[in-house]
Amino acid sequence: MLSHSDVLSLLMSRKPGYSLPQPFYTDPDVYQADLSGIWYREWIYAVAVAELPKTGNYVTVQVGAYSVIVVRGADKVIRAFHNSCRHRGSRICSATKGSAPKLVCPYHQWTYELDGKLLWAREMGPEFNPADHGLGTVHCHEIQGMVFICLGDVAPSTAELEAQANRYLAPHDLANLKVAYQSQIVEQGNWKLVLENNRECYHCGGNHPALCRTFPEDPNMVGGDDSSSSPVGLAHVERCEAAGLPSKYLVAANEQWRFVRIPFIGDGVSYTMDGKAAVAKRVGSVPFDNAGSCLYFHYPNTWNHFLSDSVLTFRVLPISATQTEVTTTWLVHKDAVEGEDYDLKRLTEVWLATNDEDRQIVEENQIGINSPAYRPGPYSPVEETGVLQFVDWYCRTLQGTLLPRSLYAAE
Ligand code: FES
Ligand SMILES: [Fe+2]
Repeated sequence: MLSHSDVLSLLMSRKPGYSLPQPFYTDPDVYQADLSGIWYREWIYAVAVAELPKTGNYVTVQVGAYSVIVVRGADKVIRAFHNSCRHRGSRICSATKGSAPKLVCPYHQWTYELDGKLLWAREMGPEFNPADHGLGTVHCHEIQGMVFICLGDVAPSTAELEAQANRYLAPHDLANLKVAYQSQIVEQGNWKLVLENNRECYHCGGNHPALCRTFPEDPNMVGGDDSSSSPVGLAHVERCEAAGLPSKYLVAANEQWRFVRIPFIGDGVSYTMDGKAAVAKRVGSVPFDNAGSCLYFHYPNTWNHFLSDSVLTFRVLPISATQTEVTTTWLVHKDAVEGEDYDLKRLTEVWLATNDEDRQIVEENQIGINSPAYRPGPYSPVEETGVLQFVDWYCRTLQGTLLPRSLYAAE
């Protein structure tokens, strides 16, 4: 049983530039520290607004022990509530997604409006005040068509992120796209291994034959630095910026999120086997097909690709110390017609294959780390700067939540 101070000592003892000590990937107590220090405090990407187009559309999102309902109200506003009835606590919505005119608890049918107000409860006596028993609210905020939730009492400011997302992502008009396909997989690996794997392409050449047809492996473009050492990346940024598409590498002061627009290999324009567009209708106001991919990550749980013909969002949710759910959503122009403007297999095959390859990588990584013989190993200073950037963010953030309050306040 590891206490908070044990986890803090482990954090302090880690060797910079090296993968983390074993308990960070295996230990249930470190996992609990991750939940309370990060997942229950930070903004978590929940759903694209395009997944909730109509009144009553909802999804449920499991963040650690919390189940959250994200639902579009009659006034079109998207809100988030704790998925726990105010009568005796039953979970209200058990499906991962659905549509309902009201939220009705299956236990004794207490009935809630889509804005969380309790509308009806049978035979609760004259003293009972429904206004005191609305659903518990969860912070919920839409940023450029992506809905984030936050379980903390006080949600971190999104002002700077929002200002930049409005520049980088608005041309793709995510809020007005439609879902073409969604996949959900469970990886038998700690959530940090999933994020670490995403933050480098050191593994791409050996594992992603389909992705490598179009995605540049150059760590100067996709890693943790500012892309300025890649002439190809720089030329792409300049061409896109000149056309009014914000593209320069930009990272948050605390390194929690980043935007950069990278080119595809050669004349590629999308993640397809031949590099040609997957969808005939371009999204939003992107001015040309070969705009590459605007990469947006936000720790701890999302990375995204904003292309000229589609947008792919990725949502990571931890299930246990060694299990993680990854949901991928492909979005296209809302007027694009399957079979006419796009072929679903062509649109999805590269990333379905890539996700499965990444799942295998993460699972093998986890099995190897489970061995008593595991020792933290060094990151490549050329290829794995992105991993180091993520791990440093993780350690700083968790450490800040574990330090005694007086020390933390003095920081
Ligand atoms: S627990 Fe929900 S109505 Fe009783
Ligand atoms: Fe990968």
